[in-house]
Amino acid sequence: MTVLGTETGLRVTPLGSALGAEISGIDLSQPLSPERVEEILGAWRAYLVLVFRGQSLSTEEQRRFAANFGTLYERRRGGTSFAKDKYGLYDGDPAIREDPNLMLVSNVRVDGKPIGAVADGDMWFHIDSGYSERPYRYTILHAIKLPSTGGDTLFANMYKAYETLPEDLKAKIAGRKALHIHEYKRTAKVDLTKDFTNSPHYFHPVVATHPETGRKTLFVDRLMTARIEGLEAQESADVLARLFDHAERPEMIYAHKWRPGDVVMWDNRCVTHGRTDFPHHEERILRRCTIEGDPILP
Ligand code: OGA
Ligand code: MN
Repeated sequence: MTVLGTETGLRVTPLGSALGAEISGIDLSQPLSPERVEEILGAWRAYLVLVFRGQSLSTEEQRRFAANFGTLYERRRGGTSFAKDKYGLYDGDPAIREDPNLMLVSNVRVDGKPIGAVADGDMWFHIDSGYSERPYRYTILHAIKLPSTGGDTLFANMYKAYETLPEDLKAKIAGRKALHIHEYKRTAKVDLTKDFTNSPHYFHPVVATHPETGRKTLFVDRLMTARIEGLEAQESADVLARLFDHAERPEMIYAHKWRPGDVVMWDNRCVTHGRTDFPHHEERILRRCTIEGDPILP
C-alpha cells in the first residue's frame, strides 16, 4: 500500500513557460505533514500558481488546507451568505453559513441577489486586495460548479514582467509608489477626477521585493492601479498603460481552464489575475479562502 504524504513525492508538472504548475499525488482533504507543506511552498515559490485537479473539499477541509499557509483572512462583514442548501456549500452545518473565512465567487442569484462576489463576466487583471495596506499573501479557489465554456482565469507572472521591461520604463518607475483604489468594478478604472477618499486605497511600491524569494516584481494592475506618484497625470497614465500592456503579453500568461474539483492557488505578491467572459445564464461557483498578507516591500 502506498500512503500519500510519506513514501511518495509530489509530482510537479509545469503548465507552460510563463508560470504555473500542476501538482498531483496528493489529496488536499487530508491533513498535511509539515514536510509536505514545505514541499508545496517550495513549488509555489518556483511556479507562483499551483493547480490541483480532482479534489473534493468540504468547507472545513478547505479552511484546514488553507491554514497551512498562514492566517486565514476574516471578512468583517460576516462572510458570504451561503444562500441555499441545494449548493451543498455549508455541509449542513448552519454555524458556517455565515463563514467569515470563506467567500463564494459566483453569479448564482437567490431572490435576485448574488450569493457570492465578482459575479458576472470578464474581469481585468488585478491583485486581490491590492488597495489595502496589507494585500492578501495568497488566494485559494476551489471550483464547485462551472459554465460549459469561458470563465477562464488568466494569471500573469509579474517577476517576468519586471525583468523583461525596457530599461527606460524601469528607470521611470524606480523608487516610485503607485496609488491603488478599489471601486467595486470589474472592467473599469476609477475616475480620478472624482473624490475617491471613501473608496479603499493605498500607495505601494511600483517595483516590490518578494519577502521570501528576494526577487523584484512589478506590483501594479490594470483594474485598480490609478496613478504613479510624482509623475504628471499624462505621463503617469502613459507609463501605466505601457506597464499593463507589457505585463499582459501572452508570454507572461497562464490561462487556467477550470474543471470541477480544481483547487488553484496563487501568490498575490508576484501574480496578477483576470477572467474571461462566460455565458451569464450558466452557473459558476467557486469557493475562496485568502491568507493575510504583509506590507509590500520596495
Ligand atoms: C478572485 C477572482 C477569478 C475568477 O476570486 O479573486 O478574481 O476566475 N476570481 O473567478
Ligand atoms: Mn481576484
